[in-house]
Amino acid sequence: MKPIIIANWKMHFLLAEAVTICSKIMSQDLQCNLIIAVPSPYLAYLSDKFQSIQFCAQNVSHFSDTGAYTGEFSTIMLKSANIDYVIIGHSERRNIFAESDELIAQKVYCCFKASITPIICIGETLSDRNNADYRPFLIERLITALSALDTTQSRLNNIIIAYEPIWSIGTNVTPTQEQLTGIFADIYYFLQQSQIANNAHLVYGGSVNLDNIQQILNIPNVNGVLVGKSSLDYRILLQMLKLFNAIF
Ligand code: PGA
Repeated sequence: MKPIIIANWKMHFLLAEAVTICSKIMSQDLQCNLIIAVPSPYLAYLSDKFQSIQFCAQNVSHFSDTGAYTGEFSTIMLKSANIDYVIIGHSERRNIFAESDELIAQKVYCCFKASITPIICIGETLSDRNNADYRPFLIERLITALSALDTTQSRLNNIIIAYEPIWSIGTNVTPTQEQLTGIFADIYYFLQQSQIANNAHLVYGGSVNLDNIQQILNIPNVNGVLVGKSSLDYRILLQMLKLFNAIF
């Protein structure tokens, strides 16, 4: 599988700015696997205007289909707007919006129902990390996130798993190569045991920048990156894309 670069724009950029950046990316004619997670009001418009870029929602309702849920939008609505990806369980959603593992599992199930690829985020806080069993804890998070799917469903649905240590997000501090190698080996082992390794893509997120991106991509089982802050500067984003284009 070709490595992916997921740009998480969070709650940044007005529509005109997003259009300008997407136009600059398009003009480079780069052949890389880019997914941009833009604010949801822009999704349908941008996906229609820039058909060679893949866009991604940063959140979705845990209710499937349609219904009286003011303010929510569902996975089938995303699909109807040609959106194939959604970030689920980002630490900012877990911490600021109190999303539980169970809610995240329901969202993953809604993705399955609508044939949308969930980008499931897992990660530990610094205090979790000081706990000797934080690695099994991460796998537990993953097991819960997938728990609403039965075995056949989890083997059928494409999934992207983003390991994002919470202490690394926006801090310019990243785990060591050894730590990342160990964690990605654990996650991959779990996926293999569950027979979902073939339809899963593993990415790293947390302070990815131009200086560390190549090292991160060299870690076994890492098949892409989720980039927050560095993706907000289009010049850096373009340099990252050029690097992907050159090496993959
Ligand atoms: P960062 O954010 O690259 O700014 O650390 C990553 C993320 O929050 O997904």
